[in-house]
Amino acid sequence: MALLPFMKSRDGKTEFFTDGSFIYARRGKEAYRLDLFDRHYYKLRLFNDVPILEIDGLRMQLVKDFETPLDYAKEVVGGLHIRPGRMARVLDTCMGLGYTAIESAKKAGVGHVTTCEFSEAVIKLAKWNPMSEPLFEKGGKIEVVSGDISELIKTMESSSFDYVIHDPPRFSLAPQLYSSRFYSELFRVCGPGARIFHYVGSVGKKSGKHIEQGAMKRLMDTGFKRLKYDSRLQGIFAER
Ligand SMILES: C[S@@+](CC[C@H](N)C(=O)[O-])C[C@H]1O[C@@H](n2cnc3c(N)ncnc32)[C@H](O)[C@@H]1O
Repeated sequence: MALLPFMKSRDGKTEFFTDGSFIYARRGKEAYRLDLFDRHYYKLRLFNDVPILEIDGLRMQLVKDFETPLDYAKEVVGGLHIRPGRMARVLDTCMGLGYTAIESAKKAGVGHVTTCEFSEAVIKLAKWNPMSEPLFEKGGKIEVVSGDISELIKTMESSSFDYVIHDPPRFSLAPQLYSSRFYSELFRVCGPGARIFHYVGSVGKKSGKHIEQGAMKRLMDTGFKRLKYDSRLQGIFAER
């Protein structure tokens, strides 16, 4: 299949192509296919002209009912109703390609975004992804932290965030990120009145499972208030 160019890096030195299945990067005389194995199989592919990340064939961005994953990130961040002019601190627990982190950093009321990712393979692919460039901008608002959020969060100061975006992989792949123990850490690092969004997904819905109900109960038991499930975003908004 022919390679179609779809984008260049900001400095114009890298050009990106797709054959419909893979994304390729060409820098000078060198060309790379943007997929790799590191215990799991990681791959970038295009969805309506925007790169998405797949891990072992599972999409890491929700695109059902959205034109692109960027629209999903916009709606999640919009739903947090970030107040302007406060230099708020945002925690984005699971970076992926960083679309939710990047979208939150665009808000005038945000001063700093901490985004965490435990897979070096994902960080490598995000460094290639032209639409993840703002994550790595020198002097930008975003700090990328490499590590497992369930461990990293224990080292974070109490009341250190005003907003949290918790967009983990589906429940079966990362049950610890849906646990009461993790929610208590989330509660601890949230300042009073902090708002959170927690993606829970919809796996098992057809067979009568409602992951959101268990997650909402555990969040409430932890102390979060004003919980609201958003079926389009497949996640829960709540307040500390
Ligand atoms: C659903 S994606 C996040 C998508 C992201 N919000 C975006 O806009 O691109 C989940 C990401 O979390 C990462 N991840 C999984 N478990 C993690 C953990 N314990 N700590 C940090 N990152 C984790 C995965 O490697 C994956 O990149």
